[in-house]
Amino acid sequence: MDLLLDTPLDMHLHLREGEMLGLVAPFSAAQFAGGVVMPNLVQPVDSLERVRAYRAAIAATCGTTGFAPYMTLFFRDYTSQDLAEVKDEIIGVKLYPAGITTQSEAGVRDFDRIGATVALLEELDIPLLVHGETGGFVMEREQEFLKVYQWLAETFPRLRLVMEHITTAAAIEFLDRFDQVAATVTLHHLLITLDDIAGGLLRQDIFCKPIAKTPRDRDALRQAVLAGHPRLMFGSDSAPHPRHKKERLGCAAGVFSAPVALPALAELFVEAGCAEHLPAFVSANARSFYRIEPPAKTVRLEPIAWRVPDRYGEVTPFLAGKTIGWGVKAPHPSQF
Ligand code: NCD
Ligand code: ZN
Repeated sequence: MDLLLDTPLDMHLHLREGEMLGLVAPFSAAQFAGGVVMPNLVQPVDSLERVRAYRAAIAATCGTTGFAPYMTLFFRDYTSQDLAEVKDEIIGVKLYPAGITTQSEAGVRDFDRIGATVALLEELDIPLLVHGETGGFVMEREQEFLKVYQWLAETFPRLRLVMEHITTAAAIEFLDRFDQVAATVTLHHLLITLDDIAGGLLRQDIFCKPIAKTPRDRDALRQAVLAGHPRLMFGSDSAPHPRHKKERLGCAAGVFSAPVALPALAELFVEAGCAEHLPAFVSANARSFYRIEPPAKTVRLEPIAWRVPDRYGEVTPFLAGKTIGWGVKAPHPSQF
């Protein structure tokens, strides 16, 4: 039987710029009603002007109907006036610790100095989206960062806080302690562990930040998502890099999952016998946390097997060469 998804949303998405934007954005636009667009361009999106220019570039690529780009602003010190001016044009402000991931050098170096801007976000009711990793040992970064999340949640109790792309059992436990906190979960962190990346021949295509963790962590994420946790939202963290940046010494971090996201989620939920919880994960939870009304769009998934191509242009997609048992009706932009 087909699955109908009402207004699916991708709440964490990298669309890039230029040629790469042209290649990848149509996949998201075809399958989702909207997406939260990350601001970590080579020149971060850190002003109203840049938000407008980036939104215009996305609209020029995807058209202006059928896909809502929910824009984010790169966290730095902002004045109350800066934030008041940009508030209606963004869904939130995205905080990166400096240097922790792709194009995050302009991020936060000293967390003791962010309080004033975070207080303004709380006052203006602008959500704060956080890449929650310390600079510690790679497998412990997310867990170590929980103390920063705790400080944020306790110091700014009215702030709507989003833990982005959580990967650990500890993050799920943390989430359950604070009602005003939500989290995004990627497809790949529901499917893989560190073993898939480094347990055999090294796999650049699934190397990403945060790194996938242990089977226990993956199972905790799965369990919470499949049980319909009301504050877990799907965010693909689809992060394309061309092959020459992946297949070299010093591989860029990021998994390009936009073309396979909904089919692979459908397969996961249906096989687990939890299909009834998929609509909340890919839409309703995000709509209620962010209080958004995206353009109406119904996406039909069919139980038809297809083989994921080895490449889209110069980018290797997640699950390349694998067969997925579900497909989106009219899923792909016409050139593929
Ligand atoms: C993302 C990217 O390439 O922009 N990379 C990644 O591994 N997830 C940045 C990010 O979300 O960390
Ligand atoms: Zn990301």
